[in-house]
Amino acid sequence: MNVYRDSRLEVGFETSDDAGVFKIDDDKSLVQTVDFITPVVDDPYKFGQIAALNSLSDVYAMGGTPLTAMSILMYNCNIDKKLIQLMMQGACDELKKAKCTLLGGHTVEDQEVKLGFSITGTVANGTFYKNSSLRAGDRLIYTKPLGIGIVATALKGELTTADETEQIEAIMLTSNAKAAELLKKYNVSACTDITGFGLAGHGLEMASGSDKSIVFEIDNIAFIESAIKYANMGIIPAGAYQNKQFMDNDYVFSNEGKEKEIILFDPQTAGGLLIGVAKEEAEYLLADLIAAGYHDSAVIGSVTDRLEKAVRFI
Ligand code: CO
Ligand code: CO
Repeated sequence: MNVYRDSRLEVGFETSDDAGVFKIDDDKSLVQTVDFITPVVDDPYKFGQIAALNSLSDVYAMGGTPLTAMSILMYNCNIDKKLIQLMMQGACDELKKAKCTLLGGHTVEDQEVKLGFSITGTVANGTFYKNSSLRAGDRLIYTKPLGIGIVATALKGELTTADETEQIEAIMLTSNAKAAELLKKYNVSACTDITGFGLAGHGLEMASGSDKSIVFEIDNIAFIESAIKYANMGIIPAGAYQNKQFMDNDYVFSNEGKEKEIILFDPQTAGGLLIGVAKEEAEYLLADLIAAGYHDSAVIGSVTDRLEKAVRFI
């Protein structure tokens, strides 16, 4: 592809990073991203909140501070306008918490509702986190439990109990803002948020981009309990199988817990942060994250020099 490139471009699209970074002056760079999603919960207000958090997250994953937002909205004209209003109010309330100003947006008619934002943030020069700068020896921390896509699929099929619904909503409604803020005190090499490609897919992007391998320790990964139940029942989004197929040649799985394997590929909406941190600081960062309310945070793996496969699950 023939693409124009200004010399101030710092992170482009090649490394599948969470956002682009463009230096605007001697102090800071712009961090720019766009994302939109279809409804993952029934409550329109909560869906709006989740759509905003999901979009803001890519700026946090880069170490940036959100500044402005442009909405991308699609809906069928026959829908009750009150639902759209509630949805937008949910989104605006999260943008407000993030001190992110909504500038405008664009609406298109479509069969299914879709909502998201293009977020522009800033980051002090040279302090952004790429996903492709892992170092051998780093430990990997993940901040949320896995299985959001599976439980959201069960929710869509009206299978979840009230408790399970509440739990998955709470996980998606947890902002990554505070976690990203904590990272600044630590020797962090790389960061990304886990979304559509699942833990395995985003892990692969990080490992390949860094020319390293990642060894995930399954027994240390937090799984949403109901996700294991629904996965065993075969309630698994098509995206999980696509993610798995896509990287079938890039990983090895040598753990007993075969029933957990597919959950590693489960597409997450508003997933947590996967963080590469210097080994000797991992336990301190972990304690900080847990104290800040990210109770399911765990050290889930480590980075090695490049092995035969980019990703290993042990
Ligand atoms: Co992302
Ligand atoms: Co995204």
